[in-house]
Amino acid sequence: MYSKCPESLPPSGKIGHEPVLKDEALRLFAPKNGEKYIDCTFGGGGHSRAILQSADCSLLAFDRDQDAAQRAKKFAEEFPQRFQFIGEPFSKLNELKTSGYAGVLMDLGVSSFQLDEAERGFSLKSEGPLDMRMDTSKGITAIELIRQTPLKELEEILRGYGEEPRYKKAARAIKDAEGSLNTTLDLANLIEKTLGRNPRSKIHPATLTFQALRIAVNGELLEIEKALPAAFELLAPNGVLAVISFHSLEDRIVKKFFKKMAGLPEDRFDSSFVQDRVKRAELLTRKPICASDAEISRNPRSRSAKLRAIRKL
Ligand SMILES: C[S@@+](CC[C@H](N)C(=O)[O-])C[C@H]1O[C@@H](n2cnc3c(N)ncnc32)[C@H](O)[C@@H]1O
Repeated sequence: MYSKCPESLPPSGKIGHEPVLKDEALRLFAPKNGEKYIDCTFGGGGHSRAILQSADCSLLAFDRDQDAAQRAKKFAEEFPQRFQFIGEPFSKLNELKTSGYAGVLMDLGVSSFQLDEAERGFSLKSEGPLDMRMDTSKGITAIELIRQTPLKELEEILRGYGEEPRYKKAARAIKDAEGSLNTTLDLANLIEKTLGRNPRSKIHPATLTFQALRIAVNGELLEIEKALPAAFELLAPNGVLAVISFHSLEDRIVKKFFKKMAGLPEDRFDSSFVQDRVKRAELLTRKPICASDAEISRNPRSRSAKLRAIRKL
């Protein structure tokens, strides 16, 4: 039985990463010998392993995190000849010279490895530098972003990427305190002091602020927007594109793209003419697949996961 998918993202509190909705994703792909797959978000390799163990197939994985690249090195020894890794953002899918893939998977967001390592600065529960970069070799950190961004733009980041209803108040407090903000706990405590705590909610008041900054630092939504069409083009006929998202901003992009590929209006604002819509895929999930109660109690991080998939015609 599937439960409803709430929008919160509690950290797993565990070391390592348990792949979310693994069996459900595997059922959608149903890998066969000789087929080729892409895992756009290798992380700890949980989904990659499940695919490679289920048939004599091959898999190409992406991840822009250097720690994931280290894990992938060991993984390659486990699956010689069948596994390849590219340490780049998955938006680079459009540069691949190969095609004819039976399946492409995206398991979006950050891994428990990243969340649980305080030094990475993703967690609002343990003290670390305000970094939040998936690829620590380039780009600006969250604190650099805060200091370089004017108030109005910071408000837009918190509104657009965090859907934080009190974005103005939060942004003003951050800009006022930016000189003394250094760590994740500095920011979490500042937001808690500014916005207060809802006694009926288990969600920390800084959750949406952290989400917004992380998305901005890593350009996450743009990555998804670029990668989805590229992934679709790489599929063979009957190939499956499956995406696991963890919040409504990601899910909205995926849902719209999948509907477009299925020749349907993208959303209620879509004013395109019926005759201009081309059906290139079949929706495999009219409603998103969510984690079962058993999975949620085993791995609380799966609570907000939504899995959607299409099959190319
Ligand atoms: C939720 S985890 C994936 C976990 C993985 N499925 C597993 O079973 O271990 C997401 C991973 O995707 C990576 N990632 C997120 N966005 C990315 C992007 N645009 N390009 C490349 N890697 C990305 C993150 O660094 C992280 O390691």
